[in-house]
Amino acid sequence: MKNKLISLNILFSILKQVVLIEWNYDLQNKLFWAFDCDFDGNDMTNVRMNGETCGPTCSRTTGCTHFAWSKYQDGTCWMKYGVISKTNAKTIQGRGFVCGTVEINDPGNGGPSQNNVLATRHGATEMGACELPRSDYAVNLPVALGNIDSLGYLKFDGKYCGQILRIDCGNGDLDIIVTNSNLGGGLDLYGSTWDLATNSKPPGETRCSVKLTNRNMLKSSGYECFHSTGETNNLYYRNIGLFNTNGKLVVGAKFKGADGAHRGNNGYWAFDGYGTENDQVVFYFQDGSNHAVFLRDCKNGSNKQIWS
Ligand SMILES: *[C@@H]1O[C@H](CO)[C@@H](O)[C@H](O)[C@H]1NC(C)=O
Repeated sequence: MKNKLISLNILFSILKQVVLIEWNYDLQNKLFWAFDCDFDGNDMTNVRMNGETCGPTCSRTTGCTHFAWSKYQDGTCWMKYGVISKTNAKTIQGRGFVCGTVEINDPGNGGPSQNNVLATRHGATEMGACELPRSDYAVNLPVALGNIDSLGYLKFDGKYCGQILRIDCGNGDLDIIVTNSNLGGGLDLYGSTWDLATNSKPPGETRCSVKLTNRNMLKSSGYECFHSTGETNNLYYRNIGLFNTNGKLVVGAKFKGADGAHRGNNGYWAFDGYGTENDQVVFYFQDGSNHAVFLRDCKNGSNKQIWS
């Protein structure tokens, strides 16, 4: 029995060395890093530099979501793009590797928490500025997202329309959906959301922590493209948005080489000019990756969901 215990102990310590990556968090550069690990593929660039500057350089480089550093050529930093999770890291023993993820792009983690954010009650029944289409929603508790400083990276922008936030206003975690803007304010919680978040406090003010999650707004899985207007076949004007992105933030769109523009505080991109249903729209994500959709695959989203 004693022998068995000893060998289990040895086995466990070997497993720990091989499998467990011990992550460190760098608050200043908002990234996770660890020794003896690497990520496969998705290389953007490689630059010679020392190990300490690799993560911070990735953090400051548009599109860089994760990185790996090795002693190759006296120290080389591989900057990498695309969706990443710390769980994708693989162990490389004894070769001086360092790898890491930039926190906000790591969907395994969601975004960092913003604390002590002012929240108020929004007593309305409306579609909201995001003009989200009527559909089968997985999250039905709406919020009008503001832009006060305490919101940090979560200040309202069209890219947050339809994204799922996790709040805690003292009564546990609650997942809510961004359906509207609340410029000048904090979290304006619609009645249904306010009641659950505050345990039915009378209207007033409260304070919440809030973070971005990688949950999808719809019950379906995978990307969903919608036309905002009923004119799904108007050759001269398109207004389309990509939703259900697993927390990826859409920061741009191109149709036949032309950049789309937001017309309103929403997640749709407007294009003027020619194009058929057999042309593709390319949506660009904040993490540097993109996704292309044929116009014919975008649904009629002119019927809007009403939130309260
Ligand atoms: C899109 O839906 C709206 C509302 O149901 C409808 O009026 C419109 O005709 C539809 N557009 C097309 C092209 O089917």
